[in-house]
Amino acid sequence: MQTPKIAVVGSINMDLVTSSPRFPQPGETLLGTSFRRFMGGKGANQAVAAARLGADVGMVGAVGNDGFGSEALENLKREGIDIAGVRVLEDAPTGMANITVAEGDNHIIVVSGANFGITPGHIEACEKQIAAADVVLAQLEIPMECVIAAAKLAHKHGKPFVLNPAPAQKLPAELLDLVTLLTPNAHELAISLGLPENTPAEELIARAPCPVLMTRGSEGALYNDGQGALHRQGGFKVTPVDTTGAGDTFNGAFAVFRAEGMETAVRKANAAAALSVTKAGAQGGMPVSAELEAFLAAQKP
Ligand code: RIB
Repeated sequence: MQTPKIAVVGSINMDLVTSSPRFPQPGETLLGTSFRRFMGGKGANQAVAAARLGADVGMVGAVGNDGFGSEALENLKREGIDIAGVRVLEDAPTGMANITVAEGDNHIIVVSGANFGITPGHIEACEKQIAAADVVLAQLEIPMECVIAAAKLAHKHGKPFVLNPAPAQKLPAELLDLVTLLTPNAHELAISLGLPENTPAEELIARAPCPVLMTRGSEGALYNDGQGALHRQGGFKVTPVDTTGAGDTFNGAFAVFRAEGMETAVRKANAAAALSVTKAGAQGGMPVSAELEAFLAAQKP
């Protein structure tokens, strides 16, 4: 397979992660069990997931001119990611995420900082990276007008635009028209389309104006093929340590393997996401190619 070129347009955060035996109630103080810092941000996570699996990745985004920003840039460079499209902003801090891990799940509050300091002009200045990519991957932790600018450039250059609509918000029709593939979970798809959250997954997918690949955690994924048929693919059971970044791993891996066809790409993305939750931190468990292949080979047919 030719090395896929992926442009990731999105956020870069420092994750401040507290582990706790359970989630606190409003107004309650709990004693936690650990505190750690990890690199994060949905954009950076997806870029790292793709780079570990052998893709040639370029990141478009922003950090602040501070310690977290320098660490984030060093981390991206260490992972072999091209950071020419990442700006260092003087007037905003690096984005941070306050994460509580408990009960096999997580709660996340993101303070966007520099991620919301970027403008459509910044995205347009990265047209070369987008034009050179095989796939353009974006999420919703940067301003909506920047996501639209990236989608327009991808469209202009005939590049597939894969949008992971997280964190969820109602998506403008103008953006949905430009999306090649939307990769939400069920909750995110309902919000993206402005439909009630109890709408069945199949109905949500049928009502989307663009192709959808819906992630369902360890249950796998559901996707439509643009001709009305719905496909289901099972996931992989593992013992989770930290589920943060599982969706990002799925998206990064899917972008890498997209050219191998939906069935293979979804299977590999599910496997990469399963492996990612077996270690702490959003990027901690993201597999390299050999780990992914070994995991898949060890599965029963
Ligand atoms: O998807 C997980 C990510 O969401 C975390 O790394 C955090 O930074 C938030 O952006």
